[in-house]
Amino acid sequence: MNARFPAARPRRLRRTPALRRLVAQTRPRPEELILPVFVKEGIDEPNPVVSMPGVVQHTRDSVRKAAQEAAEAGVGGLMVFGIPQYKDERGSAADDPGGVVQRTLRDLDSDVGDALVVMADLCLDEYTAHGHCGLLTPTGEVDNDATLERYASIAVAQAAAGVQVVAPSGMMDGQVAAIRAALDGAGYTQVPILAYAAKYSSAFYGPFRDAAEGAPRFGDRSGYQQDPANADEALREVALDVAEGADMVMVKPGLAYLDIIAKVARECLVPVSAYQVSGEYAMVEAAAEKGWLDRDRAVLETLTGLRRAGAAQILTYWATEAARMLR
Ligand code: PBG
Repeated sequence: MNARFPAARPRRLRRTPALRRLVAQTRPRPEELILPVFVKEGIDEPNPVVSMPGVVQHTRDSVRKAAQEAAEAGVGGLMVFGIPQYKDERGSAADDPGGVVQRTLRDLDSDVGDALVVMADLCLDEYTAHGHCGLLTPTGEVDNDATLERYASIAVAQAAAGVQVVAPSGMMDGQVAAIRAALDGAGYTQVPILAYAAKYSSAFYGPFRDAAEGAPRFGDRSGYQQDPANADEALREVALDVAEGADMVMVKPGLAYLDIIAKVARECLVPVSAYQVSGEYAMVEAAAEKGWLDRDRAVLETLTGLRRAGAAQILTYWATEAARMLR
C-alpha cells in the first residue's frame, strides 16, 4: 500500500480477466493486419524459407490458398511480392503483363478481392540481376530519376492487373509523385498509394532477402534507405510523400522504430502502417523454437506494442495466425 495515497490501488482493475478485458485500451484487430506473401515463378511446390520458419515462397496455386485462408481469418489485406525466374539489369519482369506478380494479382483480385485489399510491393530489387532497388549508372550508383520511370511503368502494369493498392518501397526521391502521375495518366485515378515513407536501412531485413531473393550483389542500401540514427528525417520523408499524394504511409521496421511510429502517427493525417519485418519474425520464431519464449504471447505482445505506438495497420507474417487468435 502507498502510505501517501492510501486509496490508490491500480491493481484493483487487474484483479480478474473480465476487469482486464473491460479496461484494455489497445487490441490489434484482424482487419488491420496485412499479410506479405511471396510468389515465385517456375516452382511446382511451395519452397520453405529457412530463416523464416512457417513462411514459404508460394507457387501460383499455393498463394491462392494462402490468400483464401487469410480472407477467412478476417485479415485486412495482402502484400504481394514476386520473384521472377529471369532477372536482368532493368528488372524487366517487374512490369511484364505476363510476369509472375501481374498474373498473381489477377488471380487474387478475382478470388479474394472483395474480402480483403490486394496490394503489391512496387520495387525493383527482386527483379534486377544486381539486386538493387533501382537502375544503375555506369559507375554502379543507383540512378534516382531513371528509376522513377521504371516505377511508373510498374505501377501501371500492376494497376492493369487489378492491384487495389500499390506500395512503393524503393525510397527513391519523388517516387510517389511519379507513380501518382503515371496512374492518373493511365486512368487509374482510384488506385491508392501506400508509401513506404520512412524505411530504414536495417539488419532486420536479412531473412526477407532469402525469401525474396533480392539481396544486393554488391554494396548495401544505405545510399537510399534511412540511417537508423535519424528521427527528424522520417518526418521529412513522410511530409514529402503526403505532399506528393501518398494516401497512406508506412514506417519500417517496427519494433526498433516505435518512437518513429508514434511521432509519425501524431503528425500525419493519413493512416500510418507499420511493417513488422522478417527479422522481427525470425527473432521470435528462433527463440520460441529453443523454448526461450512463449511464442503466441510474444506474437500478440509485439502486435499490441505496434498498435499502441500508433500504427493503424500492421504488416506481419503472422497475420493469418494472429487474426485467428484475435477473433
Ligand atoms: C524492398 C523490400 C524489402 C523489404 C520489403 N520490401 C527489402 C529491402 O529493403 O532490402 C523487407 C521486408 C522484410 O524484411 O520483411 N523491395
